[in-house]
Amino acid sequence: MRVERATVHDADQIAALINFWAAQGQMLPRTLGETYENLRDFFVVRDGAGSVVACAALHITWADLAEVKSLAVREDQQSGGFGSALVQAAEAEGRGLGLKRLFALTYRPGFFERLGWAQADVMTLPRKVWNECYRCPKFPGCEEIALVRDLEGPGPA
Ligand SMILES: CC(C)(COP(=O)(O)OP(=O)(O)OC[C@H]1O[C@@H](n2cnc3c(N)ncnc32)[C@H](O)[C@@H]1OP(=O)(O)O)[C@@H](O)C(=O)NCCC(=O)NCCS
Repeated sequence: MRVERATVHDADQIAALINFWAAQGQMLPRTLGETYENLRDFFVVRDGAGSVVACAALHITWADLAEVKSLAVREDQQSGGFGSALVQAAEAEGRGLGLKRLFALTYRPGFFERLGWAQADVMTLPRKVWNECYRCPKFPGCEEIALVRDLEGPGPA
């Protein structure tokens, strides 16, 4: 399995993958336009034919903080380690960028906790809340759970 940077050729498939899970209430939807605008945030895993089977994005919030978002694995490829590999790729990039902390908002806190993330009060992430959540139709009734991952130290080998 290789985690790679997304290219413009992946955008349709990334948006389709995210919106498949969004239609089931598992994550927020993304338009194709938003996918292109944020394409440089995305990592993907592709199958042998070059099709996207999994994706995730690392989006910088501020000097010390970035969000792991749009994490999705194709339904027929679950539990193959792709989700974990994508989160770890985002962590590695975060360290390389000099970020101190990553966060995610998710309905799957247990998945992130297995990877060493810890639950946090979303109000400890005020830039996220007041820049983005504030404009979301679900605010303030969102049931997503905030998790954080501190990036001090060298991280996994
Ligand atoms: C969550 C998701 C990204 C995990 O991807 P994946 O490639 O299946 O993950 P991995 O193979 O790396 O790890 C799977 C492991 O995590 C565990 N896991 C998944 N969700 C979990 C949860 N909520 N609580 C605890 N463990 C969980 C699985 O049981 C599995 O364990 P196993 O390897 O012992 O069987 C994937 O299920 C998915 O795309 N879900 C729909 C979209 C979504 O919820 N995205 C997250 C929004 S931030």
